[in-house]
Amino acid sequence: MIFHEINAKTIDNDNRQRQSRIVRRLSQSPSMNPDRQNPNREARELLAFYVDAGADALIGEEPVDRMADEISPPPAGGRSDSEAVRVGAGGKAMQLQRDPTPDRLRRSDPPPPGEGRSRAPAAAPASPEIAVMAAREAAKSAKTLDELRALLTDFEGCALRATATQLVFADGNPDAKVMLVGEAPGYDEDVIGRPFVGRSGKLLDLMMGAIGLDRTKVYIANVVPWRPPGNRTPTPQETAICLPFIRRQIELADPDFLVCLGGPAMQTLLGVKDGITRSRGRWMMFDTGRREIRALATFHPAFLLRSPLQKRFAWRDFLALKKALAG
Ligand code: URA
Repeated sequence: MIFHEINAKTIDNDNRQRQSRIVRRLSQSPSMNPDRQNPNREARELLAFYVDAGADALIGEEPVDRMADEISPPPAGGRSDSEAVRVGAGGKAMQLQRDPTPDRLRRSDPPPPGEGRSRAPAAAPASPEIAVMAAREAAKSAKTLDELRALLTDFEGCALRATATQLVFADGNPDAKVMLVGEAPGYDEDVIGRPFVGRSGKLLDLMMGAIGLDRTKVYIANVVPWRPPGNRTPTPQETAICLPFIRRQIELADPDFLVCLGGPAMQTLLGVKDGITRSRGRWMMFDTGRREIRALATFHPAFLLRSPLQKRFAWRDFLALKKALAG
């Protein structure tokens, strides 16, 4: 069974239960319910629920009456104002399909300067295929990790960029022998701009510490570098669009060992069809584009937080990594 599916269901159930608890509590009178005497707590819980449900994702700068939207036809014989032209790799302009976003939904001024900040309204790319092609070209053109980060910061082919607070590119030492790759940033990573800085990141730090590693000795990134709204699973299209970038990031960092954290990272990067429970702890080969390196998958720390009994298997995997590093 793929643990990822279990997670999604568990989270859905948790959310539903939490929502009904809150709704029940809010609807009860103060005298009947002692918790009503602590409205701050309720408000915080309700806010947390909305954040978990993705309500923190800003899509537009202003409220929009979508019932009133009308898309006017493009002017005859010419490119309409709502046709999107995006810059692809190497500065090449790529004309994407007509973007039906009404003008008032589009930002008139450029996004504020600031690394990776991305609060533009969602600009849907023409098609995933075109976005994947643009991503491949862009990733290939990056000669250094800094260039890759800059290209990703400006890349508009993935709609997640519009809802994320900022790009979460990497953390740690790009010259390290070990590179760890997770699935996608969560809430804390989105706010701070570095991968694995939330609860699962703290556990990851402990796991690394147990084999003598820390963030000066590893390089950390994610398959998808923008937080999906509400921490939902990235869609296959979003993953496919981001894949050329993470592959190039691995190639440019050129580690000796790749560690995939969780089933999604393993399946995406190592092409493994089986779930993480069956495939973790097995050394595999990964072709970086420069050379073949050894790769290992282990449980995602977020899964270990929910299933602490599985930590013993992750411990075995980390010991295997320690041995490989020593040998
Ligand atoms: N989970 C991930 O896969 N990546 C992060 O950066 C944080 C949580």
